[in-house]
Amino acid sequence: MKVRGAVRPPGDKSISHRALLLAGLAHGRSELDGLLTGADVKSTARVLRQLGVDISPVRAGGPVLVRGRVLARPAATLECGNSGTTARLVLGALAGRPFAARLSGDASLRRRPMRRVTEPLRAMGAHIEEEGGDSLPLTIRGGKLRDFTYTSPVASAQIKSALLLAGLVGGVAVTIREPYLSRDHTERLLVHLGLALSYHDGAIGFRPSAVSLPAFRLSVPGDASSAAFLVAAAVLAEEGELLVENVGVNPTRTGFLVVLGRMGARVERLNLRDEGGEPVADLLVRPAALVGTEVTAAEVPTLVDEVPILAALASRAAGETVFREVGELRVKESNRLELVAANLRALGVAAEARADDLFVRGTDRPPRGRVDTARDHRLAMAFAVLGTVPGAEVRLSERASVAVSYPTFFADLRRIGEGGTLKDSLTVGGKG
Ligand code: S3P
Repeated sequence: MKVRGAVRPPGDKSISHRALLLAGLAHGRSELDGLLTGADVKSTARVLRQLGVDISPVRAGGPVLVRGRVLARPAATLECGNSGTTARLVLGALAGRPFAARLSGDASLRRRPMRRVTEPLRAMGAHIEEEGGDSLPLTIRGGKLRDFTYTSPVASAQIKSALLLAGLVGGVAVTIREPYLSRDHTERLLVHLGLALSYHDGAIGFRPSAVSLPAFRLSVPGDASSAAFLVAAAVLAEEGELLVENVGVNPTRTGFLVVLGRMGARVERLNLRDEGGEPVADLLVRPAALVGTEVTAAEVPTLVDEVPILAALASRAAGETVFREVGELRVKESNRLELVAANLRALGVAAEARADDLFVRGTDRPPRGRVDTARDHRLAMAFAVLGTVPGAEVRLSERASVAVSYPTFFADLRRIGEGGTLKDSLTVGGKG
């Protein structure tokens, strides 16, 4: 396909969750612009409303208004939908509140591990009852917390953020170490709101002040992870140029641009600016011939949600691409490690997950076959982009899952392309 024009990805999912949560805990009325209107963020808004926070409807076109408060006992189970970030961050925010709250989620979320968050929260003083092992549903009864120092075995922003929120609500100090730096949106937003964090010897230290969190206004930047699909479509295009506007370029999120650079696609960052403590830029992307690369374990946290789309790009690159230590992908919205490999094979690409590494061998044969998205938004979008290459015939098992993080994805993908490749090649629900 030929790409052209300019496109804006939706608001950053991670920042949207954090903005709603911190506004929900703040004193007074906050105003949030550019919030993602995807299903995951609506799950956070719904759960916060159940905890007594007043939030105007989360919809496109205007700011979302939040009147914060001290979180109150919910009358019913907190349904977190498909959103791991909602479940884990809300657990953190409830750890210091003296009432019981039961959390659950959809079938995918009920398969995801929760002890990575509940174990440190228990050590801080929260009581947590499981119903069936290391997963939702579970009931948290918060209480008086103690100062806490934790070395996380996983580089996970959800673990780190849950503990920071527990410290904030419980009024206790937390010190956190992680094996590699994960996305730092919570830290940046806390600092933007005037709270002090310290960095010492590889650890983050947070000692909340006695003063309550002030209400705030925030403009949420576009989501780098959603932008990655648009960037990839432009890199794979035969000709043209695409401007992806208003993208958050926080270095803890843009590992995919670094890897793309090594693969031969240079993406220009224009108009670099700051929004609420986060770097933002417009990305100018042109088609490129790609070569395989090795993605290191240290890079993985900076591109953890981009492995499916990078693997799709690797399938069009000369030679082999290896993703090291991507075992965390097994516990995302689906088992992304196995499904990326299996779906690439279904399209005629040599791909394999071996232990925690993923190997993809590039080809110039058009991808043809049926993709099982497992209702995972990022798998649907990654394989839809692969379906734009000339001669492709990619049949997705469904496409509705994109509503989780990028409701207008298919409309945007169609809009940036010329030549109708997508329309002709990408069908849904076909048997293959
Ligand atoms: C997120 C952190 C990452 C990421 C997820 C969003 C966040 O998960 O995969 O999509 O907003 O904190 P982990 O913390 O489990 O790595």
